[in-house]
Amino acid sequence: MSSCGTGCGCGSNTSNTRPLITKNKVNKDLQDYWETIYNVIDSEKSGWYEKTPEPTLQLIEKSGVNKGDHIFLAGAGTTTLVDYLLDNHYTNITVSDISSTALDILKERLQDRANTINWVVDDLTNPEKLEQIPPIDLWIDRAVFHFFTETDDQKTYIDLLNKLVKTGGKVIIATFNLKGATKCSGLPVRRYNELMLKEKLKPNFELQESFETLYTMPSGDTRPYLYTLFNKLYN
Ligand SMILES: C[S@@+](CC[C@H](N)C(=O)[O-])C[C@H]1O[C@@H](n2cnc3c(N)ncnc32)[C@H](O)[C@@H]1O
Repeated sequence: MSSCGTGCGCGSNTSNTRPLITKNKVNKDLQDYWETIYNVIDSEKSGWYEKTPEPTLQLIEKSGVNKGDHIFLAGAGTTTLVDYLLDNHYTNITVSDISSTALDILKERLQDRANTINWVVDDLTNPEKLEQIPPIDLWIDRAVFHFFTETDDQKTYIDLLNKLVKTGGKVIIATFNLKGATKCSGLPVRRYNELMLKEKLKPNFELQESFETLYTMPSGDTRPYLYTLFNKLYN
């Protein structure tokens, strides 16, 4: 596989042939796409790897989440955030991704600690198993929602989030900001500012906190991100 050319360091192919567009075939194609990526990349060299997920940690702190609250990681990949949550004695964690390969890599890294986590392989834009998980106190998404460029997919994702997050629960969403790249991992992304995300989450959520930050990839390239923390007001 050739480099994606986005500076993602993902090893992904960026040919113009989009592999995942037609509805009803989306799931399998999208899943295969991400499985391939996780089969070929070294997680620590990926264009989204964080040794310490500092900006997310800041927002977790501000969310006021308790150690036993249900924390959901949407599109977790192999994130080091899971290690952090376990190190800091959070006990009720669901980790989800469309790629079982990503979750297997994560499980292997965590060894015995993996047994304390609820693992779900599912598609956030066509959820089946995710519909069944218990209510969520804190939903965390870094660099996932921005891949959903179709309005229908965004709506399915937001509907799921609305259904699962408790009233008074919190949502962290981090996307590329308006100065960010237009592609990642060979896929187009939608970029956001604070107002655009507020629009997506209204009327049930209010913005509690947001900031922009420049992420440095393992390759040395940078990507401007927007981090947001929302509070759920109503059901
Ligand atoms: C750029 S990576 C970010 C991974 C992780 N959140 C992090 O910050 O390290 C995007 C992740 O979203 C997952 N993903 C993409 N589309 C998805 C979907 N429709 N449903 C669930 N996960 C998805 C991918 O498999 C990948 O792990």
